[in-house]
Amino acid sequence: MTGAPWSTGVGRLPDGALAVAGVDVRDLVAEHGTPAYVLDEADFRMRAHAYRTAFEAAFGAVGAGVDVYYAGKALLTVAVARWAREEGLRVDTASSGELAVALRAEVPGAEIGLHGNNKSDAEILRALDAGVGRIIVDSLVEIERVARLAGERGVVAPVMVRVTTGVHAGGHEYIATAHEDQKFGLSVNAADGAESPAMAALLEVLKHPELRLLGIHSHIGSQILDPDGFEAAARVVLRLRADLSERSGVLVDEVDLGGGYGIAYLPGDVALDPERVAKDIAQSVSGVCQELGTSLPRFSIEPGRAIVGPAGLTLYTVGTVKPVTVSADDGADFTRTYVSVDGGMSDNIRPALYGAAYHAEIVGRSSAAETVLARVVGKHCESGDIVVHEVQLPADVRAGDLLAVAATGAYGRSMASNYNMLPRPPVLAVSDGASRVLVRRETEDDLLGLDQG
Ligand SMILES: Cc1ncc(COP(=O)(O)O)c(C=O)c1O
Repeated sequence: MTGAPWSTGVGRLPDGALAVAGVDVRDLVAEHGTPAYVLDEADFRMRAHAYRTAFEAAFGAVGAGVDVYYAGKALLTVAVARWAREEGLRVDTASSGELAVALRAEVPGAEIGLHGNNKSDAEILRALDAGVGRIIVDSLVEIERVARLAGERGVVAPVMVRVTTGVHAGGHEYIATAHEDQKFGLSVNAADGAESPAMAALLEVLKHPELRLLGIHSHIGSQILDPDGFEAAARVVLRLRADLSERSGVLVDEVDLGGGYGIAYLPGDVALDPERVAKDIAQSVSGVCQELGTSLPRFSIEPGRAIVGPAGLTLYTVGTVKPVTVSADDGADFTRTYVSVDGGMSDNIRPALYGAAYHAEIVGRSSAAETVLARVVGKHCESGDIVVHEVQLPADVRAGDLLAVAATGAYGRSMASNYNMLPRPPVLAVSDGASRVLVRRETEDDLLGLDQG
């Protein structure tokens, strides 16, 4: 097998071509064309299982319960929602559309959460009608809105309040600031001794008979490789829970610590280990509750990328190869080989959006050629349309070559667009030597069907 950042089912065949879960990528391309997203089902299930069992074991050892929600924003199809459920995960959604997919997959409403900083009335009503297990409210306005709609429906809505702890993480380190300048959540920090927006929101929820306050939610960022950030945020949330108990007499039952568990994108990257991070967080929260003199709540987490990211790769066909002479800062010139593929920022916006780094290889054949510094670019009308900023590819890379980009399972398809009227690629699942289409390729007719002329 090839190893990270590829999924566990990826290996090279004797003639040098890549296979995923026993399926030769050349066969996939012959049947489905490129670009195509390929998902290694066993890898997805293995990671879902690993996160659930690691957290259950670690939190169980300190006497706390835990639920793992798969964050559907990373990639949600009906089959993917089913896999998550079959592996014992719940499903976190962030829109009516994601909720619709989870319901189509027959995930019970009670096992679904609804997020979003600007949920519409229609979205909230749909969630209430589906009997979702929790609506994570994000503002005072929304608390009023959910209470009004629950009242109209004659139900009691289970809610969590999303707070910002001042702990922000992503990449290797976390930062802690008093006031976060971002749209999500309500700050636990008060201005000049006033009541914090988070406390005000929690107290507000308690006033409404149409709302049942489940607990407090905190999500601190994405692609986090340092577990300290989770522990720091958990400490803040648990203190807020204790403060709320003092203020109101209500010790809420649940605390959600969000997602953001980091994965390997490049060879040599080390992903966060679920067992280690689960143990670290469990021990830390247990200690904090002891210090605060409170019982442990039930915890939940919401990993998305860590479950589906490594399970996915994207297949492209190389169209053009162009050596470009580049002037370096030190005045010396060097050559960068621009390799254009038949997709780009429409199927993976992350490099353009965040400068995200990926790894690519030529996968339809072997090559004994020396490698050259290459940049894999798409076919869109943007010079920022970059798929892989920097990668060594064989010098004989040429038109018609198949190229795969590793670890594209999360936030590839789910953030895809139709820029330049490109139909979005299919999502193919591979398992035990067979493939199936989870989401078919869009066609020009699909796109023209929306255009009313
Ligand atoms: C509230 C919430 N939960 C979970 C996630 C999933 O994060 P990740 O895919 O990095 O695990 C996100 C991502 O943005 C989020 O906003």
